[in-house]
Amino acid sequence: MPAVPEPTEPLIQLTGVSKDYESGAGVVHALRELDLSFGVGEFVAIVGTSGSGKSTLMNILGCLDRPTRGTYTLAGIDAGARSNDGRALVRNRLIGFIFQGFNLLPRTTALENVELPLQYRGVPAGERRKRAMEALTAVGLGDRVHHTPNQLSGGQQQRVAIARALVTDPPLLLADEPTGNLDTRTSLEVLALLQRLNRDRGITIALVTHEHDIAACASRVCTFRDGRMVSDVTNEAPTDAAAALAALPEPEASKLESDDESPEAAARRRIGGPVPLSVFAAMLAAGLGGVLGGVLYNRLVIDHAVPWIPLGLGVLAEAWVAARYGKKRVGRPLTPDQRARVSLYYTLGIAALLAPFALWQLPDAAPQLAARLGALGSAQVGAVLLVGVLGVLAVSLLRYLLISLFSPSR
Ligand SMILES: Nc1ncnc2c1ncn2[C@@H]1O[C@H](COP(=O)(O)OP(=O)(O)OP(=O)(O)O)[C@@H](O)[C@H]1O
Ligand SMILES: [Mg+2]
Repeated sequence: MPAVPEPTEPLIQLTGVSKDYESGAGVVHALRELDLSFGVGEFVAIVGTSGSGKSTLMNILGCLDRPTRGTYTLAGIDAGARSNDGRALVRNRLIGFIFQGFNLLPRTTALENVELPLQYRGVPAGERRKRAMEALTAVGLGDRVHHTPNQLSGGQQQRVAIARALVTDPPLLLADEPTGNLDTRTSLEVLALLQRLNRDRGITIALVTHEHDIAACASRVCTFRDGRMVSDVTNEAPTDAAAALAALPEPEASKLESDDESPEAAARRRIGGPVPLSVFAAMLAAGLGGVLGGVLYNRLVIDHAVPWIPLGLGVLAEAWVAARYGKKRVGRPLTPDQRARVSLYYTLGIAALLAPFALWQLPDAAPQLAARLGALGSAQVGAVLLVGVLGVLAVSLLRYLLISLFSPSR
């Protein structure tokens, strides 16, 4: 049984709260004269039939909507009386949300999704990345940070959503049917995570659910009917979701793990996404550093100009940086496909950078070369070009092998 912290002071206080909606058929009384308070560190389940006002309550608690009548105080702030902007500020500072449909941005990585609330707060990029990584690691997704939602299972998507809700360190977490789209095992995983956050960090949680098993994990259950709270009971012995999870039969687990991603997503992952330009820039810097080190070694240590020493050191430094810094930027070791692309593009890039330099250093070379090529037959020109292409491929292959040599296995 999880040790739920004792409620001490009210974090939330609703007094005489009503919410009316005007609709074509007349007024709907979604909430009626509700008095309710949550203490710091409580884990409350909100249950009730469809249309009983649960989501309406969550919207008010979450400062998305304001009561028609009555007062809502959150952490001593009269949130219900605030303007839209004022409520947005309270929301951003004090509340994390989790929804049934996850509400993640598609085509945006888990990391970027989690960084978003920090971006709204104007947190600098480096700090944002660090905190988003911590939040994703806390929900057990440290190895999936560069996956987009469609490359993640439902449970993993919900954990990304939880990380996003947590990244601002809010004292209050609101969840409207967070397990509504999940199977039993995954629901228990999410609940175990929420219980841990409640227990270890003292985060107050209010969770709407239709399922008895899920409500049984909370330390207090509030039942709604027709906009009124009809019962409010303390659960002395909440289900420990982690223990319930451990008691589930194992085969289901392995099946779920392997069903994680579609074949299409798996293929995309094997190929790997684009490699950031900063990796190429870092390689170039490392290469120049290596060459400089080699030249200094030649001058100062052996007092001999041995050209392959700076060249070799440069190439080794580039490959080492491509493997290590590449892993850091991409989030996992470069796939063979990414290594091949890095090697080829980098080799071509270096050739393009060196060509003008060579022309500038050897002004006679270009006309001489042109004259020589002019004297050759077309087959011979073809052979020269082929040698050039093979040269680029050979250097790329060497780079590929060196990057593979330096690539960590995980
Ligand atoms: N924007 C709205 N305009 C008009 N009526 C609304 C609006 N939102 C909710 N209602 C009405 O208010 C009542 C309470 O709705 P609410 O969404 O809070 O129910 P709920 O308990 O969350 O239901 P469910 O379990 O189906 O999600 C319902 O009768 C609903 O039709
Ligand atoms: Mg609802």
